[in-house]
Amino acid sequence: MTKIFASILNADLAHLADTSKLIADAGADYLHYDVMDGCFVDNISFGLPVLQSLRNVTKLPIDVHLMIREPLRFIDRFAEAGADMISFHIESDSDVKKTIEAIHAKELRAGLAVSPDTSLDGLYPFLSSLHDEDYVLLMTVQPGMGSQKFMAEVLDKIERLSKHLKAENRRIHIQVDGGIQAQTAALCRAAGADYLVSGSYLVYAENPNAAVESLRAE
Ligand code: DX5
Ligand code: ZN
Repeated sequence: MTKIFASILNADLAHLADTSKLIADAGADYLHYDVMDGCFVDNISFGLPVLQSLRNVTKLPIDVHLMIREPLRFIDRFAEAGADMISFHIESDSDVKKTIEAIHAKELRAGLAVSPDTSLDGLYPFLSSLHDEDYVLLMTVQPGMGSQKFMAEVLDKIERLSKHLKAENRRIHIQVDGGIQAQTAALCRAAGADYLVSGSYLVYAENPNAAVESLRAE
């Protein structure tokens, strides 16, 4: 079943409580929280204190997407600040297996994030460390900022990963992130993605309920 993750990166951060309420009322399933450290990507977003504040004003589960150079150092702190699930990049400097184990040790679901230029061959060796209901995040833009154009070349990767997971009998979700709106969501769903992250399309929508439904449309 398709789940909708609303990214707040492009929201008015002075009004996070209102935004999280708007997103929840619109029917999104999760809040997607993009952490950037200015090293792994050339941008800085928000970190632990903002997550703590957000945790106090929303009941939605929070999906933390770490675009940071050393995710392993911060897993415990993001878990304690209120993350319900955490993804990190396999291109980061941390040991991938140890980082997955650190997320699981906090009893959270783990996600392996893969940038557009990284091949699936780089991902496959780590799939055995994931549990059922964990996820792979296939980026559909270069990580680092919102409002970019969807990269259609990633569709083939989604399809190949989806077939691979089915063949291996794995219940691992495929999440996509970047440039997701009604049309690109439909393409990603058809290719096999079931976790859709959408930022600017949702936070700038005149009718957020209709926007969420347009992503989910089965
Ligand atoms: C990009 C972030 C995305 C981004 C999505 O680095 O990981 O989550 O906020 O925003 P849109 O939907 O505007 O591309
Ligand atoms: Zn993200």
